[in-house]
Amino acid sequence: MKTNYYHSVGTYYDKDAIDFEHRYWENDTLQRIRQSFREHIRKYNFTKALEIGFGPGFDMVHFAQTFPNAQINGVDVSAEMVRIANEKIIQSNLQNAIVKEGSVEDIESQFPGERYDMIYVFFGALNTVNDLNASIKELERLLLPGGNLVLTFVNKWYVGGIIIESLKGKFGRAFSRLKKIWGGYSPTNFLASKCYSTSEVKSSSTLSCEYQRGYSIFFPAWYYRGIHKRLPSKIRLFLWHLDSKISRTKLGTLGEYMLYDFQKKH
Ligand SMILES: C[S@@+](CC[C@H](N)C(=O)[O-])C[C@H]1O[C@@H](n2cnc3c(N)ncnc32)[C@H](O)[C@@H]1O
Repeated sequence: MKTNYYHSVGTYYDKDAIDFEHRYWENDTLQRIRQSFREHIRKYNFTKALEIGFGPGFDMVHFAQTFPNAQINGVDVSAEMVRIANEKIIQSNLQNAIVKEGSVEDIESQFPGERYDMIYVFFGALNTVNDLNASIKELERLLLPGGNLVLTFVNKWYVGGIIIESLKGKFGRAFSRLKKIWGGYSPTNFLASKCYSTSEVKSSSTLSCEYQRGYSIFFPAWYYRGIHKRLPSKIRLFLWHLDSKISRTKLGTLGEYMLYDFQKKH
């Protein structure tokens, strides 16, 4: 059963679903970051994957096509996202992808007894869970020995954003990620979310973090469209490569987005 919180998250994304894909295809920064997330997952030879918060289903379809022998299950709290993703699965005639409505707490009842060698979250579903600790513990339980938990988060300590917003005199926005509740990306549509630092994410898991990297450290975050437009393409490319070089260092933990790869050894 949906809690009030998941009901409000689901309703938010039901509305967001209307032009989600259009906004995505207009934004090459989001596309670059997704590409990098996918490349990370593709390094593994999984047979049973689970996606939390698949949205319109870009990656469900991508992985179901790329790994035709793997089964890909997914849950999302938004009924509209489930409908859109399911439509894509049917249109693409995929027999190895199944989407259901729900959050982390519903996975066992939606897919009883199923266990996974790959569980992944792209673009934010774990920033909107009731309890991050409990969610990660549940995902660890669903993971098979040797499996990977690849989690991405809106990062708490995005220093570039603090500097840019402070220079604009928008101090509330500059420090909004440090508050207990963050209102989400939209300045007009509130979504009660939480941003997590690297130490908060790592301390929520009992598994060892085998890999982590940050995104948009010097390369402007995906929503700074004006800055992206004004930057010459050579400089943008330079900043993207600079980020890639430092993404795994301490500086990498100060980017806009983070990816963590936890492995269940046994
Ligand atoms: C920003 S969208 C990203 C969608 C997709 N992963 C992508 O990369 O395009 C976040 C998605 O996660 C879903 N979501 C948010 N919180 C969730 C939760 N606690 N459990 C399951 N899905 C959730 C939303 O409904 C939405 O579809």
